[in-house]
Amino acid sequence: MTQLQDEQKRAVAQAAIRYVPIGSVVGVGTGSTANYFIDELAKIKHKIEGAVASSESTAQRLREHHIEVVDLNNIGELPVYIDGADEITEHLHMIKGGGGALTREKIVAATTKKFICIADHSKLVRVLGKFPVPVEVIPMARSYVAREIVKLGGHPVLRQGFITDNKNIILDIHGLQILNPTELEANLNQITGIVTNGLFARRGANVLLLGADKGIRTVEM
Ligand code: A5P
Repeated sequence: MTQLQDEQKRAVAQAAIRYVPIGSVVGVGTGSTANYFIDELAKIKHKIEGAVASSESTAQRLREHHIEVVDLNNIGELPVYIDGADEITEHLHMIKGGGGALTREKIVAATTKKFICIADHSKLVRVLGKFPVPVEVIPMARSYVAREIVKLGGHPVLRQGFITDNKNIILDIHGLQILNPTELEANLNQITGIVTNGLFARRGANVLLLGADKGIRTVEM
C-alpha cells in the first residue's frame, strides 16, 4: 500500500462519518479502510447506540474502542453500512472478500438501507475481475465447486492456510473478465457448496466515497 492510498483511506473514512445518523446502530465493514472508519467512529461513540460487525476482527476492534457490538438478530434494518471494497465500478458494483469476510459482509449489506463504500482511488475499475473473486465454500465441496468454476471459465485457487469466521475455506477465482456481474453473481450462487461469492452487484453500494487527487469524489446511485 502506498502512502497516498493510505491517506485516501483515512480521508474517506473521515468523510463517511457524516452519513452516520445520531442514535443509530451502524453496520461496520472489514479491512484496512474500515479500520480507519472504526477509529473515526470511536470519536463519536457517545452519539451512536452501537455497531454490527461484519467479522470477528472488526468486532474486536470495535470493542477495543468501547463501542458496543450489537447482534444483528436483535435489531431490524440498519440505516447505514460502511465498508471498503477490493474493486468497484462507476455502477457501484463491487468485488469484496479480499479479507475473507464476504459472507458476513453480504449479510450486513442485505439488511441495510444505505451501503456507503469507502475506497482509495486504486479500487476504481472499468471492468471487474482483475482482482480474483473470492468464494466461501463448505470444505467438503471444495473439489466439486472448483470443477464447476472452471466450467464458468474461471481459474480457482485455494486461499492457503485461511479459514473464515464461519469455519469454511475460500477459493479465489482468477482469470475472469466480468462484463455482467449481476449474472455471474447469480450463477455462482447456484453452485452447491458455495456459501457466498464476493460479487456485490445485485446489492451494490448506494454511495461511493472515493479518494481523489484533490479531496474526495462522491458517486451516488
Ligand atoms: C474484506 O473481506 C473485504 O471485503 C474488504 O472490504 C476489502 O478487502 C477492502 O479492504 P481494504 O480496505 O483493506 O482495501
